[in-house]
Amino acid sequence: MEKTIDESKQGESLVLEQKEGNQRKLFIESYGCQMNFSDSEIVASILLENGFNTTQNLEDADLVLVNTCSIRDKAEQTVRKRLEKYNAVKKINPGMKVGVLGCMAERLKSKFLEEEKIVDLVVGPDAYKDLPNLVAEVDEGQNAVNVILSKEETYGDISPVRLNSNGITAFVSITRGCDNMCTFCVVPFTRGRERSRDPQSILEEINDLWDKGYKEVTLLGQNVDSYLWYGGGLKKDFVKASDMQKATAVNFSNLLELCAKAQPKMRFRFSTSNPQDMTLDVIETMAKHNNICKYIHLPVQSGSNRILQEMNRQHTREEYFELIDNIKRLIPDCAISQDMITGFPTETEEDHKDTLSLMEYVKYDFGFMFAYSERPGTMAERKMEDDVPADIKKRRLEEIINLQQDHALYRTQQHIGRVEEVLIEKASKRSDAHWSGRNSQNTVVVFPKENYKPGDFVNVKITECTAATLIGEAVGYSENN
Ligand code: SAH
Ligand code: F3S
Repeated sequence: MEKTIDESKQGESLVLEQKEGNQRKLFIESYGCQMNFSDSEIVASILLENGFNTTQNLEDADLVLVNTCSIRDKAEQTVRKRLEKYNAVKKINPGMKVGVLGCMAERLKSKFLEEEKIVDLVVGPDAYKDLPNLVAEVDEGQNAVNVILSKEETYGDISPVRLNSNGITAFVSITRGCDNMCTFCVVPFTRGRERSRDPQSILEEINDLWDKGYKEVTLLGQNVDSYLWYGGGLKKDFVKASDMQKATAVNFSNLLELCAKAQPKMRFRFSTSNPQDMTLDVIETMAKHNNICKYIHLPVQSGSNRILQEMNRQHTREEYFELIDNIKRLIPDCAISQDMITGFPTETEEDHKDTLSLMEYVKYDFGFMFAYSERPGTMAERKMEDDVPADIKKRRLEEIINLQQDHALYRTQQHIGRVEEVLIEKASKRSDAHWSGRNSQNTVVVFPKENYKPGDFVNVKITECTAATLIGEAVGYSENN
């Protein structure tokens, strides 16, 4: 079975603050990565200023927006199924308009209007500020499409409304797009060139979240280590920047430190790191600040040097090990997770064994594993044949999932007997008498509620575990509280 990030959140409808005087109702839902969830908060904010309050009720909506994912074929099929549901609802509510946002919108463009008759509006990830105009066009009875990608847009000036929020943890996006061009990946095509957001606007958003009671922020980007602000502009043009711009430039390590110092009691996480772009200074900054969580999502995709090269991953297996060694040397208790793809074109049994042995070396705390899915327009699709049979992909996937399960249990067992700081997020799904939160390493911890409440930082003594969850008992507030 495939695991996906945010599986529990897929398609959840979102709640939103309301604005008096707004007459129309927006139903917005998101699929795919955390960036999509974060983008939907920007979209809701833009539409809140333009006459739309949100509803959780699809049947009541004047406008339905679905923020889509193209990363694997299965993700696209899920969205198509959802459109069938909208079609059924439209029979009861004929005035309802339907818009598609995100990566599928960008990939399919106006073809979407032909393929799915239900769709009135197609808007790519860099065109959300145009939504009020596009909705006006739809109101006049036309279809509307804007899929123009931008080299500047970061939505840094939009204050996102927090959708479906627990009021404790939030996402803050710091870069958009990706320039890495991994040969299997559709993201560079759907999200465009990489750009970084002004650190000042990031800090303002973080300070505002703290004032509103939030306790943890995850800095988001397709490739956060590549963050670089020198007054705007693409990273590749940094060579042309003035001496002044170069002297005052902010890289990811600087940004992390700025955040950690701006709100010393707030926890910071970040995602995603790419091995070829992660530098030692980022690890050193993490080690220096208690409030930067000791967890790195470090996708590797394959353990075979030949496959890594075919994937255009820009690093070797040996370089990856060196990075892992450095992380463990500077931050011994740092948790590390992976993304892995099985059955990339030409992958042999030998390559697959290299993946298993790489996993054995790292023993990841978590993992997100996928069978290769050919994506139209990518280099792999154009230059390589999808030649690993589905049953072999599946068997290899099962093998790495099983191995990951063993390693996850090995890792959670290391926590038993320790006292760890946990930020309480919500009641445990399994038991209303227990709180659920996460430790610095991002592992879920559950423990009896006593008099603690969501948002508290609590020291918990870990007594038991499964491969995914730590179980313990609170021993008091942590000094961060
Ligand atoms: N840098 C991004 C990566 C997004 S894609 C980030 O922020 O995480 C997430 C994961 O999906 C990738 O790491 C990869 O493991 C998987 N993936 C991407 N393209 C894929 C494809 N064509 N088939 C199968 N899995 C894929
Ligand atoms: Fe995709 Fe590689 Fe960028 S996986 S998002 S092209 S780092």
